[in-house]
Amino acid sequence: MDGESERKIILSGIQPTSTFTLGNYIGAMKNWKKLQDENDCYYFLADLHTLTIRLEPKELRAKTAENFALLIACGLAPEKSLIFIQSQVPTHAEAGWILQCYTQFGELSRMTQFKDKSKQHPENINAGLFAYPSLMAADILLYQADYVPTGEDQKQHIEIARDIAQRFNGLYGEVFKIPAPYISKQGARIMSLADPARKMSKSDLHPRGPVLLLDKPEIIMRKFKSAKTDSGTEVVYGEGKDGINNLMTIYSCVTNRSFEEIEREFSGQGYGAFKKAVGEAVIEELRPIREEHERLMKDKIYLESCFRQGAEKAFAISRRTLTKMKKKLGLLM
Ligand code: TYM
Repeated sequence: MDGESERKIILSGIQPTSTFTLGNYIGAMKNWKKLQDENDCYYFLADLHTLTIRLEPKELRAKTAENFALLIACGLAPEKSLIFIQSQVPTHAEAGWILQCYTQFGELSRMTQFKDKSKQHPENINAGLFAYPSLMAADILLYQADYVPTGEDQKQHIEIARDIAQRFNGLYGEVFKIPAPYISKQGARIMSLADPARKMSKSDLHPRGPVLLLDKPEIIMRKFKSAKTDSGTEVVYGEGKDGINNLMTIYSCVTNRSFEEIEREFSGQGYGAFKKAVGEAVIEELRPIREEHERLMKDKIYLESCFRQGAEKAFAISRRTLTKMKKKLGLLM
């Protein structure tokens, strides 16, 4: 951010397809938490976005509840940030449709996520998957967000949201603020432990690829101990050492130590000792989250009151922009 002291509007979302990963946590949620003290923050579960792939309804319902509690357990405080569930705020789908009409076929065809997901699910390349960035643009633009804190993989989607906003403003006047990405230099792309050439992902089917925020300590340790690395022994950051680079990044983000400090700390100790230390650091980082999550899951009444209130406030805020859009377009109000 530009260092100005005034409060900014921060918005970001996450799909509740499955339990959040360490990648989601380091790449996005840690920043969300950090930003909530000094800014007006809106964070939500992007459940409408999950409909672009097929999930069991029962599974989606359970994961949405589990992950709503997980947002709070990770430190997002309902008294500080507005936390809500996308499908409970009808302005998103409505603005999403309108913005689809201001998004070009050519730009959507260039989206890497669309290309990747089409390859992953060749049997279900639906229109929602293609138009996904228009709904995401609506999510962002409805709240007049200044910054969108995400991992590296969402940069292209934020750029298209900016293009859509500029196009719309060009035609109808200043309706939307132009949002900027907020992506950390370090940790914006955490890689799979099983295959460090690939991004750590919630949907990874490899049992030891992603570390999940609710994994038990012994599972976390097992995943780190079996993390894929090269045939070397020195804990040094460098080219061709994707596995070690990834572990160093994780360790650095969790302990706030620089690469130089880490290299010094593990000099002459070999990969085994380092993997164990990373596992331990991650276990300690996630322990309070898992415990708080367990406690929250028993308090269904509190959770429900949080998401109901969140949806109500989000609706009131987003409706202002939607009304402006509709008026500008000539929709009879
Ligand atoms: P999603 O659910 O895939 O991921 C949520 C957030 O986690 C980040 N992330 C990662 N960061 C570092 N390393 C990784 N391996 C890693 N994997 C995921 C993502 O960059 C993201 O910030 N389209 C979005 C959800 C969304 C959204 C929005 C985000 C819908 N509407 C509006 C921002 C604003 C998504 O699928 O994120």
